[in-house]
Amino acid sequence: MEQKPSRRTFLTIAAAGAGGLALTGAGLPSRTLPRDPFTLGVASGDPSRDGFVLWTRLAVDPLAPDGRGGMPSRDVDVEWQVAADERFARVVRSGAETARPGAAHSVHVEPAGLEPGREYFYRFRVAGHVSPTGRTRTAPVALSPLTLAVAACAHYEHGYYTAYRRLAEQEPDLVVHLGDYLYEYAHRGYTAPGGAVRRHAGDRCATLADYRLRHAQYKTDPDLRAAHAAAPWLVAFDDHEVENNWAAGVSGNGTPRFARRRADAFRAYYENMPLRRASVPHGASMRVHRRVDWGPLARFHLLDTRQFRDDQACDDGARAGCDDRLDTGRSMLGEDQRRWLLDGLAASGARWNLVGQQVLMARKDTRVGPGSEVNLDSWDGYAAERARLLAGFRDSGAANPVVLTGDAHMHHAADLRLDFDDPDSPRVAVELVTSSISSDGDGYRDEGKVAETIAENPHISYLDQRRGYIVCRVTAGELSADFRTLDRISRRGAPARTGARFTVPAGRSALV
Ligand SMILES: [Fe+2]
Repeated sequence: MEQKPSRRTFLTIAAAGAGGLALTGAGLPSRTLPRDPFTLGVASGDPSRDGFVLWTRLAVDPLAPDGRGGMPSRDVDVEWQVAADERFARVVRSGAETARPGAAHSVHVEPAGLEPGREYFYRFRVAGHVSPTGRTRTAPVALSPLTLAVAACAHYEHGYYTAYRRLAEQEPDLVVHLGDYLYEYAHRGYTAPGGAVRRHAGDRCATLADYRLRHAQYKTDPDLRAAHAAAPWLVAFDDHEVENNWAAGVSGNGTPRFARRRADAFRAYYENMPLRRASVPHGASMRVHRRVDWGPLARFHLLDTRQFRDDQACDDGARAGCDDRLDTGRSMLGEDQRRWLLDGLAASGARWNLVGQQVLMARKDTRVGPGSEVNLDSWDGYAAERARLLAGFRDSGAANPVVLTGDAHMHHAADLRLDFDDPDSPRVAVELVTSSISSDGDGYRDEGKVAETIAENPHISYLDQRRGYIVCRVTAGELSADFRTLDRISRRGAPARTGARFTVPAGRSALV
């Protein structure tokens, strides 16, 4: 039976001898930790119909410069519990894992055999310390509505994470995070118009220790921890989890021994994300493209637009007159992933096919008037493969493809047409692009600039350069998308408002 949660707040259970706490598992660690090791919070991800992955990482001193979180260089036993209720009166699964120094004392647990389509609560315990409680869900078997939040791009220095807080307050069933979860720069290595409201710890990320420290610092933010604790996440990286605009084996910044850099960044990414074992990196290689099914309602196709792409054409950047971007041999996904995607679409019986990926798919000409200028890091730099993909959306017969995108630091809603130069060309999908959580600071809304851009790109119907996220309500009959915006993130406490709402009726592949 499907169960829908009522609104609720999260209990944080006092660490010391919480009354009635009955964590199972013999062999409690005899050695204690001097301070709370749950400073980085808890997270869950990749729900299936009978389980999910649960995550935590122990750190008594998150900002320790060596990236080890102040943890001793020994294994630490961690107990975990999954309960049907928030007070853990009905514990349905429990066990113990070992947090190892070689994995930055992270823990990934994949409980299975749970009931489909329902809410669960989880927590961890170490040496008498109890973690905050997280809420998560299993995927449904029946056709039931889905509330989905979409987020991306959260530069820590550029603003507070109020958007994550507001997202958590909406208690979505699922969060899709499309990358730039963190940024690799040193303090002021990338400045927003409003400057820095806080400071990256450490230098520009170059070593495993640097990436571990950076991940830890981001998770010290209580708003980010609240967003993780509110719902299971589907995560996929973009460029800044490694470094700006990298492309497969090619550094965007001339980094020597880039494969080593990538391997370290991937390792830290896995250690700090609620990813299943299938995503454990092997050196500089890591599998993040994957499918997640949400019953008969939705199939998520999560893409990796970095690891297999050809290097950006014409030296990257925003440029006019780059013919190489049209080369039919160029690929963003790589042949294997493209085939995997199209096969997965063709085989999908889901009512909605939600393609989560990083960079803008709609053509976007940013030059007003004659001529065009496009961002070569986005799909405009891989135009021939985009055309094949859009034709593939249509030819696959997959129902209701909707592309979910990050990276742009600006909300966009767009129709994806087979030929963007022909306004009568068939619409084959819709693209919803989320603005950033914090990257580029407060942002603004410039009606004149919006009107100019839409005039150049009539398939785009909405733009907003304020910070925010998207909340989608998906039913059998329609997908409605609320573009949530915040007036400021340079100070805490701004409310989130719905800047625009679009509806995609099932069977239409078009914004209404
Ligand atoms: Fe970004």
